[in-house]
Amino acid sequence: MKARLMMGAVLGAAMLMGGSARADDAYLKAEAVTVTRTQKVPKDPRDAAWAKAPAARVMLGAQRTVRLNDRDANPHRDDAQKFAEVQAYSDGKTLAMRVSWVDPTEDRALYDETSVFGDAVAMEMPAAFGAEHRLPYVGMGDPDENVVVSMIRATTSYQGAPMSRPRTTVAAGFGSLTRAPLPWMDMVMYYDRKLPGWRATFVRPVTTPEHDIARPLVPFALAVWDGAEKQRGGNKSLSRWKVLHDAQAKAEPAYLEKLAYGYGAQATGDAAKGKALATAVCIACHRFAEYQVAPPELAPELTNVGVITNPTYLRDSIKEPSQIIVPVLNLNRHYSKSKERDRYGAYQNDDTYQWFSIDAAGKRVSRMPSFAGFSPEQIADLVAFLQTLGTQPAPKKEGQ
Ligand code: HEC
Repeated sequence: MKARLMMGAVLGAAMLMGGSARADDAYLKAEAVTVTRTQKVPKDPRDAAWAKAPAARVMLGAQRTVRLNDRDANPHRDDAQKFAEVQAYSDGKTLAMRVSWVDPTEDRALYDETSVFGDAVAMEMPAAFGAEHRLPYVGMGDPDENVVVSMIRATTSYQGAPMSRPRTTVAAGFGSLTRAPLPWMDMVMYYDRKLPGWRATFVRPVTTPEHDIARPLVPFALAVWDGAEKQRGGNKSLSRWKVLHDAQAKAEPAYLEKLAYGYGAQATGDAAKGKALATAVCIACHRFAEYQVAPPELAPELTNVGVITNPTYLRDSIKEPSQIIVPVLNLNRHYSKSKERDRYGAYQNDDTYQWFSIDAAGKRVSRMPSFAGFSPEQIADLVAFLQTLGTQPAPKKEGQ
């Protein structure tokens, strides 16, 4: 009897381990960019050494979560997926990443012209990460989990010579680049006519006083701007959190397990069931795909949410909406005409469109109710469905 129990326990543990090992593998297969060890890292995107580094494809989707107050750029926004190719080298002390993406036009912000926008790329990493941290909000971090953002923009000099403008800072959410620029990130971008598109390198010391990334798994995310589509600021294409994987060092098991939630067959729910649930419950507030019934901007638009998020974020958004509150940029667009005007004669804001309220303790509370009461299967089904949003190629119309 005892022996059988023991056997059962051993078998159970082995199955559990097997299960999480599969999720870990599935996660790394889907999201990891392998860091190749080398004697000397290439610092220029044109360096021939890049041809030898394995490349990972990263999907980018148009930022649709919040509608931006940009009448010039909004009509140009197209929902076609973009892809970037990411490669990485390390010599143990210096990390070099190269990001390449197709863009048929070389657009540069002109020295004295404010309505011409340059192509640009940004790479962010969490300021702090590991098993004890959740990933920051992918749109430039959040107040509890900041990010280090490095951005480089294609510009020209006053004389018209090609230049680029790099900048690395710390952010705590959209539009919150508050702290002094960090000096140690080296960035170069050049236009490769053969691609045709851009290749950019991000080169930095692995350890700096402000940011230490000497770890086997380092999360990062990318954003790309297309000047021809008048993209700037929040109008951009964004990736979800990916991870740099130094295959020579053993990944911290607890961190890998945390990141791997929702990957691999076991953890994944049934997207069709999730769709049934979402179209019954969530469409009251959210718009996504062909379900455009909720008032616009009552809640984030979920049309591309599968491109820019990871399963853990989706699960937490459902169970604990207040953990990360998506920032609203354009609250002032919604007026309440039934309320009294303020002393300047202006209509008051309509608070229905504010995505959070402030509780007695001064904490922000999401306007989204928690759905923690759903069963784990229902939550997994919803996550599986949300992951499909924006990640599938658009269905072909009849006759195409
Ligand atoms: C009463 C309105 C309401 C309902 C119903 C609602 N949500 Fe939300 N949801 C919001 C608001 C407001 C936000 C933005 C604030 C925040 O981040 O919590 C949000 C945020 C989210 C986010 C984060 C989006 C992003 O871009 O990062 C996800 C994912 C989400 N909801 C999923 C769901 C799902 C799935 C359901 C149905 C089970 C649902 N919501 C039901 C109001 C709602």
